[in-house]
Amino acid sequence: MRHMSQQALWSGRFAGGMAESTLDFTTSLETDSALAFFDVMGSLAHVRMLKKCQIIPEDDADRIIEGLKTIVAEMENGEFKLDFSLEDIHTNVEFRLTELIGPAGGKLHTGRSRNDQVATDYRMYLRESVLEIVSSIDALIDVMVKIAQDHGNTILPGFTHMQHAQPVTVAQHYLAYAFKLSRDADRFMDAYNRMNKCPLGAAALAGTTYPIDRKMTAKALGFNGPTENSLDSVSDRDFVSEIAFAASQTQIHLSGLSEELIYWSSQEFGFVEMDDKYTTGSSIMPQKKNPDITELIRGRTGSVIGTLMNMLVMQKGLPLSYNRDLQEDKKALMDSLDCLLQCVNIMCPVLSTIRFNTDRMRAAVENGFINATDLADYLVVKGIPFREAHGIVGAAVRYCIDTDKKLEDLSLEEFGKFSDCIGEDVYNCITVDMCVERRNSLGGTSSASTDEQILTVIEQKMVRYENVRQENQLLEACWNELLE
Ligand code: ARG
Repeated sequence: MRHMSQQALWSGRFAGGMAESTLDFTTSLETDSALAFFDVMGSLAHVRMLKKCQIIPEDDADRIIEGLKTIVAEMENGEFKLDFSLEDIHTNVEFRLTELIGPAGGKLHTGRSRNDQVATDYRMYLRESVLEIVSSIDALIDVMVKIAQDHGNTILPGFTHMQHAQPVTVAQHYLAYAFKLSRDADRFMDAYNRMNKCPLGAAALAGTTYPIDRKMTAKALGFNGPTENSLDSVSDRDFVSEIAFAASQTQIHLSGLSEELIYWSSQEFGFVEMDDKYTTGSSIMPQKKNPDITELIRGRTGSVIGTLMNMLVMQKGLPLSYNRDLQEDKKALMDSLDCLLQCVNIMCPVLSTIRFNTDRMRAAVENGFINATDLADYLVVKGIPFREAHGIVGAAVRYCIDTDKKLEDLSLEEFGKFSDCIGEDVYNCITVDMCVERRNSLGGTSSASTDEQILTVIEQKMVRYENVRQENQLLEACWNELLE
């Protein structure tokens, strides 16, 4: 419940104030107050431009600048009070400004509209969120690289259809996730770069009659340049969809990883044990140690994916240009990005403290005829076509099942029943270690290959690290300059 409406920015045309229920229904302040800092930065860039282009008198511009700086200081020490009778953050900032400096504050809104203002503020907000998420993803990639470095020779079963397929290493396994996450981080940066243009100056929808300098404001706010079309600038939220997708895909990767850790830590698998610090107990069963963190990561994936649908459907069928529907672009996405960030951040210590039960992995790999492909490959080297070799090994596997043996247990005589090409050298080719080491094709599971992959994924991360560092530095410099 909020109190009676103060004057809205647009009250002139209206005979009476809006109903309390209208304000309650249309307000966005609870959400867009998160844009407060960026709103003031946008205003500072705008007023400096108005001053330079001589659109408003210099002394008024200077008074506005001082007032806006005071507002930033108030925000920083928690003194800036939100007035919920005012419908959004833009109105709150402008009212406070006028309170501080008098009627000159009213000149700030020359040549702009809340439509271009909110599109600009939100892009600035999302830029910072994206940079933070990318840094966190890269920290998680670091954890995975460390696991890969420590476990280049730790062998476990590789699965397809959840069935033993071929042996792989823990290094290869976690590098798979590292590359997935590396693409996720790149996707965020791609979205960042496309989003990084400034809508300010598009005004309500059609541009403005004032001789504004949009390149100046874009530069002052750290954008790559101004957006190209005013109608497009205030009407599109495709950047929101892209970021919602990047978030969903990352969360899906974390969810798959979580699911795997959950059953890997079950009694049946026992491949890993999570550190006590990152598990929880049961109120009734004293023996329990539950993987709740990973379950919650998996569980929260629903709402992140839901946000992507939310954003897409919210935009469906919107005619040009600004429509109030677009106000719904914030809450769910902001919440989802917070959720994703938390999930990535907690996954780092969960993984870095995990204990791999290498004996259990090794024992598992000895079962399920995981070296069958290698026996077939051995026959191919002896000149047998792969398709035929496949059939020979299939028959040998069936024989082993019937006689309760493993392929490596068969004598040369037994092998002879299936093919006369099999010699003493077969045993060396079908040890689990050889199965791994001989898979040295590019991207394969051999230690030589995983060493190479480690270098590649680190390189990808370093490129991003440098981009993120430069962007953060640029934005920091912009804020400092605007507050000078
Ligand atoms: N609160 C709006 C939004 O988030 C911005 C204000 C534009 N409002 C308007 N009536 N044109 O999209």
